[in-house]
Amino acid sequence: MNIAVMCSGNGSNFQAIVEASKRKKFDAKIALMVCDKPKAYALKRAENENIGTVIVDIKNFANQEAYENRIIETLEEADINLICLAGYMRILLPSFVKKYKNRMLNIHPSLLPQFKGAHAIKDAIKAGVSETGVTVHFVTDELDSGPVVLQESISVKDGDTEESLAERIHKLEHRLYPEAIKLFVEDRLKVVGDKVKILPGK
Ligand code: GRF
Repeated sequence: MNIAVMCSGNGSNFQAIVEASKRKKFDAKIALMVCDKPKAYALKRAENENIGTVIVDIKNFANQEAYENRIIETLEEADINLICLAGYMRILLPSFVKKYKNRMLNIHPSLLPQFKGAHAIKDAIKAGVSETGVTVHFVTDELDSGPVVLQESISVKDGDTEESLAERIHKLEHRLYPEAIKLFVEDRLKVVGDKVKILPGK
């Protein structure tokens, strides 16, 4: 099984996925990184790991469709079975989402459906909640929605800042994403309506 990871920024989740694959947490190859930001640190990480990268800068395409067609071409060439969005900061067109239905995961730093969008950690601090968390879900047309694969909570402590909370959230993300990938690779995720049923392991 071949996995592509799509990133826009730091790429710490990408790194965690690579480390998990090196530890043989799941039986799949991290075959490709797709990145839309030529200066993203994530690209350096992929280079260091000898993982092929594709940089697709939307500025070089006539429109989003042409841009995504280029991504699809690359994914098909690399024979990708699973796409993992990991800090990819662009909303994909419905045609792309449909093509990879139930084969594309995303990770989000909150207990979805709470705190959707790009500032989930900040929003949790602002809202004063005592619990937030991390969600891995299949991607659907609606932003930060879609059947939940794994979700785990974390308490917000008195005096937590965005930075201190983010640190714990990222740690949890780095454990949860490989777990979810393992379930996918072992064919244990069954989407029934808008829910995911986790099948027992063999
Ligand atoms: C993570 O918090 C992830 O949940 C969100 O974007 C962030 C990406 O971080 N979707 P990184 O690039 O993996 O370090």
